[in-house]
Amino acid sequence: MATVLFPSLKTRSVSTPTKLLINNQWVESDSGKMFATFNPATGEEIASIAEADAGDVDRAVSAARQALERGPWRTMSASERGRLITRLADLLEKHAEELAELEALDNGMPLSTARNVALPLTIAHFRYFAGWADKNHGKTIPVNGNYFCYTRHEPVGVVGQITPWNFPLLMYGMKLGPALSMGNTVVLKPAEQTPLTALRVGELIVEAGFPPGVVNILPGYGPTAGAAIANHMDIDKVAFTGSTEVGHSILEAAGRTNLKRVSLELGGKSPNIVFADADMDETIEGCHFALFFNQGQVCCAGSRLFVEDKIFDEFVEKSVARAKRRTVGDPFDPATEQGPQIDSVQFEKVMSYIKSGQCEGAELLTGGNRIGDKGYFIEPTVFAEVKDNMKIAREEIFGPVMSIMKFHDLDEVIARSNNTTYGLAAAVWTRDIGKALAISNNVRAGTVWVNCFDVFDAAAPFGGFKQSGIGREMGEYALQQYTEVKTVTIKM
Ligand code: NAI
Ligand code: MG
Repeated sequence: MATVLFPSLKTRSVSTPTKLLINNQWVESDSGKMFATFNPATGEEIASIAEADAGDVDRAVSAARQALERGPWRTMSASERGRLITRLADLLEKHAEELAELEALDNGMPLSTARNVALPLTIAHFRYFAGWADKNHGKTIPVNGNYFCYTRHEPVGVVGQITPWNFPLLMYGMKLGPALSMGNTVVLKPAEQTPLTALRVGELIVEAGFPPGVVNILPGYGPTAGAAIANHMDIDKVAFTGSTEVGHSILEAAGRTNLKRVSLELGGKSPNIVFADADMDETIEGCHFALFFNQGQVCCAGSRLFVEDKIFDEFVEKSVARAKRRTVGDPFDPATEQGPQIDSVQFEKVMSYIKSGQCEGAELLTGGNRIGDKGYFIEPTVFAEVKDNMKIAREEIFGPVMSIMKFHDLDEVIARSNNTTYGLAAAVWTRDIGKALAISNNVRAGTVWVNCFDVFDAAAPFGGFKQSGIGREMGEYALQQYTEVKTVTIKM
């Protein structure tokens, strides 16, 4: 256990486990190694955490295999599994404020984001997938001949889940929810930058009454613990959210080893298209949110902002004014809209994109600098006159950097929107239903928002076309990722 003190809330402290959760026991890692997790607002160490590696993954996989094949989990009724997941949702709700504080501390997102977005949506996922436990079932099939044929929906098996740091808690809802609902067992590796809420959720999973081995939580690094999961011969499926580069390596590892099922959610470069007839003020605010939400660390951020030429100048001027008003600072200050980037690596990466935008001739209209000398704060940054071939228009920046591009007509903007290796999301702002539908039907992306952005619901599927990923999370479609279909045929 580590007691975590909140720097700006001197009276509050929270306890969180610091070891690995294997078979419902909190254990040291094989190597005895520890790693630090840091507060991105100060750069200071929060706690020292046991570091998992391949041997620990082996132990966790054995526990998960045992739970899958022999424990009470295997024989538990589907409705009882649903009740357990509901109990976990209740516990998350009971401890929501504490979890929100821990998330803001470890990740740097404003407490208001953790409290009002991350927690409610995470809890909604567990409630939603609890409901599916006894509803995703097979069929009886009228085959030819004198046979009785039916399908069973069975769990895929032992599932490895590798999650990123940008929305740590939400990823647990999106990944654990459907996996547990369908009766799988899980080895979860949270991102090394943000292990704290996963460990606290682990405690609540034990408290909720999940049998030993059903959920195992292994904080650690990607190339060690993460790669051990991707390469493991006794893991049946891996679900990953993170960079495209690591997504490729996970698919390769699955191909090299046991052909484990792979689902991937790999970010994007989402087009956000503004037509001249859109409501100007609402659209300015919506596009500001689409890019800057969560410090710009959002896989579906509206990072290619296409604005119709007729309103371009006014739109740019108002977007710059809005970015200048954005409040950046202590995540625990209720007035804060933007906290720090997650760590020095991401900070440097974002700063180097800003430099590249300047070098390639984009027009830097506001921002571009570090704020303060501790923590990883970056000024809300806006570039105009961005061209499609510039690096900042092609690559995922994952930071508070808006790139505004000009377009003239519908066909042109559809073609330019699709000129990317990504296909996670898109948005269009217009009062013309014809334009809204033309974009929705022709832009190749897993999600399209019309006159809104980042509207998520546990019931609505999310995932990518092209190199933004494989498979869907959230909603009914997520169940497929965690279900094997078995056909049983009986001679009559
Ligand atoms: P990453 O892809 O390296 O890390 C995500 C997760 O994968 C972490 O848990 C990490 O430990 C694990 N991982 C890393 N290398 C691995 C390997 N070889 N095998 C198995 N697991 C591995 O992402 P990173 O370095 O944190 O961020 C780099 C970029 O990725 C960001 O700048 C952003 O563009 C993108 N990204 C996209 C996210 C999304 O939501 N799709 C989330 C986080 C990052
Ligand atoms: Mg990485």
